[in-house]
Amino acid sequence: MEQSKRIYADLRDELLITREQIAARVKELAAQIERDYAGRELTVVCILKGAAPFFVDLIREIDLPLTVDFMAISSYGSATKSSGVVRILKDLDKPVNGKDVLIVEDIVDSGMTLSFLKENLLSRGAASLRIVTLLDKPERRRVPLSVDYFGFTIPDEFVVGYGLDYDEKYRNLPDIGVLKPEVYEK
Ligand code: IMP
Ligand code: MG
Repeated sequence: MEQSKRIYADLRDELLITREQIAARVKELAAQIERDYAGRELTVVCILKGAAPFFVDLIREIDLPLTVDFMAISSYGSATKSSGVVRILKDLDKPVNGKDVLIVEDIVDSGMTLSFLKENLLSRGAASLRIVTLLDKPERRRVPLSVDYFGFTIPDEFVVGYGLDYDEKYRNLPDIGVLKPEVYEK
């Protein structure tokens, strides 16, 4: 395990999820998605920026005809707790009416971002809508939200890496770890 990057010093020593565990789980999720959507054409929507690494890894494992689109949503600012305010910063390029849409997200925490998105895309006439998230923090759910596919259930701790950020940093770590509280308490 190569952990020579200096920014790993800001994480707790024990990684929460290693790159090898992520890669194996991504393959399993892709296989499940392939089975469920066999014979259909998917529109896969990446929620920027956090889901980007998961998204690029996942779509390359899905052996189905698909198109991609991107959306950027803000709900957090630089704090580690949800503001409850969801805003579209960048909208989809193409209409999704009549499409089978799969939303790719990094983590479901309070559930507010995705419940907003789900309602928003369904109101545009998507034929079907499912959610795949790499991480799920069920303890922090504030609104009911069903996730169709999830990679890992994690405890109520603030994690970074593999796309997940704190104050826009740490997205480039290949593994997922828990940020030392002193990093955001200072
Ligand atoms: P929700 O609307 O509370 O479900 O928030 C989802 C968004 O919050 C995710 O897309 C992340 O950007 C952010 N988030 C929630 N928990 C974490 C975490 O532990 N680390 C980094 N970002 C997080
Ligand atoms: Mg995010």
